[in-house]
Amino acid sequence: MQSNWDTIIIGAGAAGLFCGPFAAAQGKRALVLDHAAKPGEKIRIAGGGRCNFTNMHTEPGNFTGQNPHFHKSALSRFTQWDFIELVDAAGIAWHEKTLGQLFCDEKATQIVDLLLERMRKSGVELRLKTSVDIITRTNGRFELETTDGKLSCDQLVLATGGKSIPKMGATGFAYDIARQFGQTLVEPRPALVPLTFPDGRFSALSGVSLPVSVWTKRARFEEALLFTHRGLSGPAILQISSFWREGEDLHVDLTGGQDLFAALRDQRQAEGRRQVSTELARHLPSRLVDFLTSEWADQFDLTQRLADQSDAKLRALTDQLSNWALTPSGSEGYRTAEVTLGGVDTNGIDSKSMMSKTVPGLYFIGECVDVTGWLGGFNFQWAWASAHAAGRHIAEN
Ligand code: FDA
Repeated sequence: MQSNWDTIIIGAGAAGLFCGPFAAAQGKRALVLDHAAKPGEKIRIAGGGRCNFTNMHTEPGNFTGQNPHFHKSALSRFTQWDFIELVDAAGIAWHEKTLGQLFCDEKATQIVDLLLERMRKSGVELRLKTSVDIITRTNGRFELETTDGKLSCDQLVLATGGKSIPKMGATGFAYDIARQFGQTLVEPRPALVPLTFPDGRFSALSGVSLPVSVWTKRARFEEALLFTHRGLSGPAILQISSFWREGEDLHVDLTGGQDLFAALRDQRQAEGRRQVSTELARHLPSRLVDFLTSEWADQFDLTQRLADQSDAKLRALTDQLSNWALTPSGSEGYRTAEVTLGGVDTNGIDSKSMMSKTVPGLYFIGECVDVTGWLGGFNFQWAWASAHAAGRHIAEN
């Protein structure tokens, strides 16, 4: 079995599988390694099995990381439209679900097949169930001790993703190798993750969902919120989890854009004998209204009649409904997080090539880099774009 390669890519996920064929252009020999038994496992389960493979509205503002400019170059050179062209050429039918999010009509494995077919056509070798124990660099070449023997290469690409979902084989491998070669790290943390609250605070509301606006001092999202046994989830919460920090308050507008003050005031005129809670339940899920009736009992008696409410009382109540401050105790962590925030510090990586600024031939792509997309197909778009940037650079140099 061949042991000397031009390029070895560690990680057969979205970024690694997409990078291989670019790196193998100009007759270069490329190998993709993975310790898992199957390639592209996260693609398979993404988007509930339909893979939200990109977002039509992708722009730099949909990503977070310490350097807000780093990802612009790669994203502009391989756009969502470039990936859509590949999907179309492969005859994969797709649809927009909401907010520009594109999903396969049939199944996510079509995207894995697309990537594997590109690998096959460009002669990139894929070795699964192969772990890398030690990496050293001697005379400008990388030497890898693996469970499949010793391998060497001129260019080494780390595409092993983040720490999210260890059960699926996620490791901090790219971070360890980055540290070994003197790259700095931005502290990784779970992101796009449900937030937890102590003592099953919302367990009575488990399963209730409603459109909200949710914000911290860093960002604001308008999407659905879902109450769970452990706390809060749903797209709005997953999005804000990338911006929330321990100890901070989260602010939730439960009104979903409705003018509840006007609604309550009008009903006070028309149906003054109606209870405040009864009227609220016409605008909000009734289980939520029951919950707030006891949760806010110290401040508001929602069992009172509308006729007994002054404008000031109604205003105070609706202000609270449109700015409910909550303090999560934490998140569900890497066990359920869709991505890992932070990672290899972009200060140490060239944004055009994804190559280390200090170790020639060492590349970092995909989720292991400190670039994290919002929920909605942006993380795959980053995987495609960063893989393209590195692969093209490898082929051309
Ligand atoms: P990825 O994690 O895909 O691949 C890394 C590979 O490296 C894996 O194959 C792993 O086995 C391998 N590896 C790890 N450590 C190794 C080691 N030590 N040695 C060898 N191999 C190693 N994003 C999106 O845009 N749309 C979506 O619909 C979803 N949905 C979604 C659902 C769920 C449940 C999760 C967990 C995540 C998503 N995401 C998503 C996020 C998306 O899956 C993620 O951002 C990309 O897969 C990242 O691609 P990478 O190639 O960087 O890592």
